[in-house]
Amino acid sequence: MRILITGANGQLGYDLQRTLTSHELILMDFPAFDLTKPSCEEQVVNVRPDVVIHAAAYTDVDGAELQPDLAMAVNALGTEWVARGAARVKARLLYISTDYVFDGLKRTPYLENDPANPLSLYGKSKLEGECRALAHCPNSLVVRTSWLYGAHGKNFVKTMMRLAMEQSELRVVADQRGCPTNAADLAQSLARMLTPDIRGIVHATGGGDCTWCELASAIVSAMGQQIPVHPITTAQAGRRAARPRYSVLANCVLKQSGISLPAWSDSLVQFVKSGAAPTVA
Ligand SMILES: NC(=O)c1ccc[n+]([C@@H]2O[C@H](COP(=O)([O-])OP(=O)(O)OC[C@H]3O[C@@H](n4cnc5c(N)ncnc54)[C@H](OP(=O)(O)O)[C@@H]3O)[C@@H](O)[C@H]2O)c1
Repeated sequence: MRILITGANGQLGYDLQRTLTSHELILMDFPAFDLTKPSCEEQVVNVRPDVVIHAAAYTDVDGAELQPDLAMAVNALGTEWVARGAARVKARLLYISTDYVFDGLKRTPYLENDPANPLSLYGKSKLEGECRALAHCPNSLVVRTSWLYGAHGKNFVKTMMRLAMEQSELRVVADQRGCPTNAADLAQSLARMLTPDIRGIVHATGGGDCTWCELASAIVSAMGQQIPVHPITTAQAGRRAARPRYSVLANCVLKQSGISLPAWSDSLVQFVKSGAAPTVA
């Protein structure tokens, strides 16, 4: 199968390349492939992929509050061009989206058909990207994931691993709950979504849930460190963008298709102990 990966140099793109080794991969990324330029539609058409995994995005959640036009241009309009290109060559489109499309007011896991109501400009731009993917490419699947971490790029897990080596204690937000997802696990599950029998929206996250503070404690423990991890509130963390307090996703549709991701706690221990994060960010 001929698979185009956008955002190939990003965190998920890296693990997709390591996972989809039995396929012919076409790798595209900024700046040669720029989602703010309409020419990216033609770039998709020109390589005639069977599947497009659209992982490229404006991913700076706090930055999007300051650059809403850019976030919308990349995540919404850019996705429309990719979707139009995919549709023209009858390719399947897998659009990677986020738990931040939800407002976090639920207290039970979000289902695929729960109404979205993003709190942040990043979430709004990704939701608009979802709508445009589904509207402009008939064979598209929106894959919502959350709290992603992997060996490549910056992420919470690698940051906590570094801080646990540098500091005598950690202070971490304890009033947001979600599902940490290992990028390699997500890539494995995406490999099973390449064929066109699932369409619409799916949730694909690590199994189970936790707070950021519980995740940090698990990281410290997996490292064999003894330092205390103190809970703080979202308000104390003082981030620019609002985040959902509860964004646990139920992976119902995937489970019906026989696809599941490992428990977040198992993957995390494996990640930390394997030295999979050689360049701790
Ligand atoms: N990270 C998370 O916790 C998380 C959670 C839920 C969903 N997601 C979604 O999962 C997907 C993959 O995330 P990730 O963590 O792999 O993100 P990432 O590491 O930030 O990678 C994003 C990629 O998109 C590229 N990009 C940015 N602006 C672009 C533009 N104008 N044109 C073309 N490419 C552009 C980036 O290139 P440069 O590096 O050159 O800027 C980078 O290679 C994204 O769709 C994201 O929204 C992520």
